[in-house]
Amino acid sequence: VSPANNLATLTPETSGSRFLKALSGETQAVPPVWLMRQAGRYLPEYRELRAQAGGFLDLCYTPDLATEVTLQPIRRFDLDAAILFSDILVVPHALGQEVRFVEGEGPRLDPLASRAEFATLKPEIDLGMLAPVYETVARVRAELDPSKALIGFCGAPYTVATYMVGGRGGEEQAPARKLAYSDPAAFQALIDLLVEASAAHLLAQLEAGANAVQIFDSWSGDLPPAEFMTWSAAPIAAICARVRAKRPGAKILAFPRGAGAKLKAFAEAVPADAIGLATAEDRRAAREAVPAHVALQGNVDPIALTVGGSALDAAVDGVLADLGDRPLIVNLGHGVRQETPPEHVAQMVARVRRAG
Ligand code: CP3
Repeated sequence: VSPANNLATLTPETSGSRFLKALSGETQAVPPVWLMRQAGRYLPEYRELRAQAGGFLDLCYTPDLATEVTLQPIRRFDLDAAILFSDILVVPHALGQEVRFVEGEGPRLDPLASRAEFATLKPEIDLGMLAPVYETVARVRAELDPSKALIGFCGAPYTVATYMVGGRGGEEQAPARKLAYSDPAAFQALIDLLVEASAAHLLAQLEAGANAVQIFDSWSGDLPPAEFMTWSAAPIAAICARVRAKRPGAKILAFPRGAGAKLKAFAEAVPADAIGLATAEDRRAAREAVPAHVALQGNVDPIALTVGGSALDAAVDGVLADLGDRPLIVNLGHGVRQETPPEHVAQMVARVRRAG
């Protein structure tokens, strides 16, 4: 990354940001800290607002409410970055697929199981449908302290495709994987559509004021190595290229959850500024796998965060000891769990800040 590129994204108001410094390859005595799913049901103020909002998607598409929810954890914990409150499934929604969030069960989509059913999707993403999301980005950026970064995001094409084909996540990746073997051209066409849609969605968030974007690949870790490169790494690399073609120097974080031994090949293929490590990743191996100028993000165990006390301190200290001598963004290895006592997040932030 050339210095000129860094200047393109480090605006005056954000150049003091620990988070953006880490993304520019700086090693810092006090590294930045934020948490995946830092807004959400473990916060009483979220549950209260959520109860007034109707459905989860209504919350995502109402800028007043989504702005408030994005800022809730920043007010409480003084984290280094806010992440837009939205969901990875707004992309299939804006491609014309039915998306519902079922209370206590998670997302449900009308599965698109075949090439013929893909024809029901729009040929490109309807960014107009997502205008409230970009308005939320602009409002959050305007309200956020200048020292804090705002992260936009999308799901990786493979992860989003597993929901679109299977109708849900988890074990039901099987439908997407079966389609990838039985009709690779059809699956590739869906992935290609998602590359274009995701790049456009990320660019719109950057245009609206996001300082960096993260690509969440929650399910590709289960793929065998060759399929992992085809369906996870290559499409994510293509998104990076499309985003940077329009915005040179755009800061991009990639989170290939569960990549494990495939991390080295992923880091070689994907030109991300930071790579997120899931809870089970071996940090020593990750150091070797990822070039030293690329920031690592992670990977405190979200279960240790639920327990707090000395177990949490030890988990944070382990990350700092293993990765503190290179560009680092302290985070969890996956999202904050619902049963997490909010005080434990305050404890984690204090432990990181004490590092300096
Ligand atoms: O990190 C943040 O705080 C930003 C907002 C955010 C949400 N989802 C809000 C949300 C982000 C970045 C996501 C990403 C996301 N969404 C992923 C990738 C990361 C991961 O967790 O693996 C995935 C796979 C999804 C799809 C999704 N959305 C699932 C599986 C669920 C149900 C799980 C659950 O906890 O309910 C959702 C719903 C969802 N997305 C909630 C939140 C706060 C809970 C909705 C509610 O309040 O009822």
